[in-house]
Amino acid sequence: MRSRDRTREAGQTTVHVQRFAVAYEYPVYFTERLFEPANPVLAEVVTRLEADRRHRCLAFVDEGLLGVRPDLPDEVERYCRHHAGALELVAPPIPVPGGERVKSELFFVEQMQRQVFEHAIDRHSYVIAIGGGALLDAVGLVAATTHRGVRLIRVPTTVLAQDDSGVGVKNGVNLYGVKNFCGTFAPPFAVLNDLDLLTPLAERDKIAGMAEAVKVALIRDGDFFAWLERHADDLLTFRREAVAAMIRRCAELHMRQIALGGDPFETGSARPLDYGHWSAHKLETLTRHHLRHGEAVAIGIALDARYSVLANLLAAGQEERICALLEHLGFRLWHPALEARRQGGGLAVLEGLREFREHLGGELTVTLLAEIGRGLEVHEIDEARMQAAIGWLKERQATP
Ligand SMILES: NC(=O)c1ccc[n+]([C@@H]2O[C@H](COP(=O)([O-])OP(=O)(O)OC[C@H]3O[C@@H](n4cnc5c(N)ncnc54)[C@H](O)[C@@H]3O)[C@@H](O)[C@H]2O)c1
Ligand SMILES: [Zn+2]
Repeated sequence: MRSRDRTREAGQTTVHVQRFAVAYEYPVYFTERLFEPANPVLAEVVTRLEADRRHRCLAFVDEGLLGVRPDLPDEVERYCRHHAGALELVAPPIPVPGGERVKSELFFVEQMQRQVFEHAIDRHSYVIAIGGGALLDAVGLVAATTHRGVRLIRVPTTVLAQDDSGVGVKNGVNLYGVKNFCGTFAPPFAVLNDLDLLTPLAERDKIAGMAEAVKVALIRDGDFFAWLERHADDLLTFRREAVAAMIRRCAELHMRQIALGGDPFETGSARPLDYGHWSAHKLETLTRHHLRHGEAVAIGIALDARYSVLANLLAAGQEERICALLEHLGFRLWHPALEARRQGGGLAVLEGLREFREHLGGELTVTLLAEIGRGLEVHEIDEARMQAAIGWLKERQATP
């Protein structure tokens, strides 16, 4: 860390410029059977900084996962007993509602903060979050705010959480009907992706997370897009090698953007990884979260691809190729909420543009497509053209 003092004289005013930089580093593991005692990863991770200490840990587990893996808390406890030199589990893993419910009010956040307090988790202890993207977001906020930040180990258990949200630096919950209104930027201590935890996922959640892979391929990596096209059948049937490769590449592209994109905490007005997201966030809210994040993103991707063509940014026909891949993977690219009207008569989904801008402040910045593999930032969206893109999606789904 470097501290530098500069003093400027300006009449009676003196200014001391405080400046320092903090380097962040966290490992992202891809492993299997994480909680089998023979797997050293978790024990290694908690002792990464202080090898000789026994570390206190408190685990929160997604109830949706517990419904299909009721034995998981026992496995975690057994693991910690086996690695008792490194890990002290201060309480049995605590079940927390999964999905958007845990992000729907601060109640769950406060309840978890209390548990952190009651179990005396300090800044050298660990909170372990085991669950989908929603649970990771809520527990992330808890970890970031208790004691101004306790160490967080994320164990993502959905495709989306493994290939996108879990490897990132954001957390948050929804407030006042706005997605992620209350949250922080807080890098985790480590991320442990276990492919086996995805096995019991519902079909729709297996598919939903693939939307983020299509998204990041479209804006960053045309070869990856072509790879997704070639492996769509294997992905659809959830072939292990194909899913593992997709998750790894997608996570890698997200990590690269955060590390090298120049604005990991999004202080500017760009949201480089949020292609297709301005409408997706709005659709999630408009459907009261009947659409999963990934399902809404797939629609948002298709919509902005068509808009990109209408705006003469993307070659005609490419939007059809994009839609074909999404549909091949099992996404539906239409939802009646796209036509919902607000009181004044305008399309409710278009409010998503305003909310998208407000989230960061500054000028509106939306990523569109210049070609498959290359995103392009624009600062204006023509509403009539966007309506035409919505109309195109509707017509498309009506045509067998
Ligand atoms: N922080 C970020 O950078 C970021 C990025 C993208 C998305 N997100 C957020 O992530 C959330 C979506 O996450 P998601 O797609 O993982 O869905 P989710 O967390 O809503 O989980 C979907 C469902 O699956 C259940 N579940 C979780 N793991 C399971 C398993 N292994 N087996 C069976 N069921 C399981 C959950 O209980 C829930 O009912 C949204 O709130 C979105 O805003 C955050
Ligand atoms: Zn997303």
